[in-house]
Amino acid sequence: MSKLRAFERALHAPAIAAETVLARLLSKTSRAPRFCGVYNSRKEALDAVPRGRLAGYDHAEIAQVSLPQMSRRRGADYPVMYWLSQLLKEPRPVVDVGGHMGTKYLAFRDVLDVSAVDWTVVDLPQIIGAAKDLQRDGALPAALRFQSDYDDLPEGAIVVASGLFQYFDGNFADFLAQFTNKPKHIVVNKVATTADTSFFSLEKIGNSRVPYHIRNIAEWKAVISTTGYEIADEWTIPELSHRIATHPRISPSVSRGMYLKLSN
Ligand SMILES: C[S@@+](CC[C@H](N)C(=O)[O-])C[C@H]1O[C@@H](n2cnc3c(N)ncnc32)[C@H](O)[C@@H]1O
Repeated sequence: MSKLRAFERALHAPAIAAETVLARLLSKTSRAPRFCGVYNSRKEALDAVPRGRLAGYDHAEIAQVSLPQMSRRRGADYPVMYWLSQLLKEPRPVVDVGGHMGTKYLAFRDVLDVSAVDWTVVDLPQIIGAAKDLQRDGALPAALRFQSDYDDLPEGAIVVASGLFQYFDGNFADFLAQFTNKPKHIVVNKVATTADTSFFSLEKIGNSRVPYHIRNIAEWKAVISTTGYEIADEWTIPELSHRIATHPRISPSVSRGMYLKLSN
């Protein structure tokens, strides 16, 4: 964060603290905005979840929220489809972390031939449970593999993490630590970033309030540089920039995607 931004943030600190108190009150009402409050840590955000609401993403009750929208192609998906189309010229499996019910597979399959791709979705246990139920009923393709752990993942897979890092508890190195072998190719998308200090908000997803991490971009890239990956491509997604309605002084987030290639 630049000195000027740090100074501005310090100047606004009392107003931001007052807004946080108002955000806590607003979050208890039905008028809570989609992004409510600004918190220094995931724990602080979770502590602010109003009584009577679920906390976090891992609930079958919210598994169907926005399912049709997430299963449609949006502008933000095209860089991911581009890199998949390049990388799949050589047959490779795909591991789709934070892949929900296979929404990107469903969204991409009309324009990208994934019919022969070995596609594994890794997500949280309750979301995977709900996906398997739908698959058993024939509502999701039988070809999709769903799992909530990182065991027995196919070798040589392209890893996709689209819309994961806002919710993932940890940094890029923590994410990598879950794989037995470092994936050669990783495509991340919709990473919420800021040029200011990292912070959390609470996102309203159905009846749950989910910590939403907006990460300092320099820190995000610094971690990547320590892990042996090269940022081979990167893009921003203007339509997914978010303002925290309760905190108008905080700059809007910048949503980013990157193709990360393991350096030799
Ligand atoms: C907004 S959805 C993204 C769905 C889809 N990939 C897309 O881009 O539209 C975020 C997903 O990340 C999952 N998620 C959150 N934390 C996770 C974690 N630690 N490991 C795997 N998945 C996680 C959530 O359960 C949810 O399905």
